[in-house]
Amino acid sequence: MNTHQRIEFETILNEDLFSLIKAAEDVYQFRFKSRAANAYFIKGTSRTVLIDVGLASTYSYIEKGLARLSCKPEDLDMVILTHEHLDHIGAAHLFKGRTIIATHRLAANKIALRDDFAMLRKMFNEPNEAVHIDIWLEEGNIIDLGNFQLKVLYTPGHTSACISLFDQNRGLLFAADTLMAGGVMGGIFGSGSISDYIGSLEKLRGLDAKLLLPGHGRLSTTPHDDIDLAIARSRALLADTGQLFDALDARENFEPLMQSVRDLNKLDDS
Ligand SMILES: [Fe+2]
Repeated sequence: MNTHQRIEFETILNEDLFSLIKAAEDVYQFRFKSRAANAYFIKGTSRTVLIDVGLASTYSYIEKGLARLSCKPEDLDMVILTHEHLDHIGAAHLFKGRTIIATHRLAANKIALRDDFAMLRKMFNEPNEAVHIDIWLEEGNIIDLGNFQLKVLYTPGHTSACISLFDQNRGLLFAADTLMAGGVMGGIFGSGSISDYIGSLEKLRGLDAKLLLPGHGRLSTTPHDDIDLAIARSRALLADTGQLFDALDARENFEPLMQSVRDLNKLDDS
């Protein structure tokens, strides 16, 4: 394990709730010390993008950080949302008409339908504003910024709609809530699945990632160690889940559901 090599990253702005950190050449982390997710600014030679936007309540810091990087919100060519949770997309409506917004098609569907349960509206208590998704992404799409090529990786598990973005040339892995430094995982929410999560982590393990740029917390220069830890944890969680179902005596708990199916079939026969 390579846990002692902690590289220092340059802090450009440092405030109570927010800091702006240079992660790599032309790549910056907007890091919040509140519940808002990290956002990432990438200045390519032909296109400039922001990955995730944090909460509506922390939007002023996004503007401040962008201004420090000599960029106005309308200068962004695209905002890419990693999944539908409001700590990542809460400020997205504030970009309406100023840039193009893209996310995975399953997240786009939830956002278009204003699925408050999936988006964790109650948990974050964000304003209920519509967000228009301009581009519905799929596995394998490439977002070409000139000197960066962001490949869209479909990495479900945390939710059904999570994507990660990977720049092959520089080994930059933007893994959002699928993987964080130290192998921390983002948990499994409504549409998510532990098996999908393990599959997604195995997919990330196959990449030649050099720097992990996660949805929360610090950057990590040891993505492979982080992935191995997360895989071990998720396999343990899968085993625990199996034991939990045994303890619950699943047959008895599913009986009301099975009875309602039988009742429906009876209605069909009559
Ligand atoms: Fe999330």
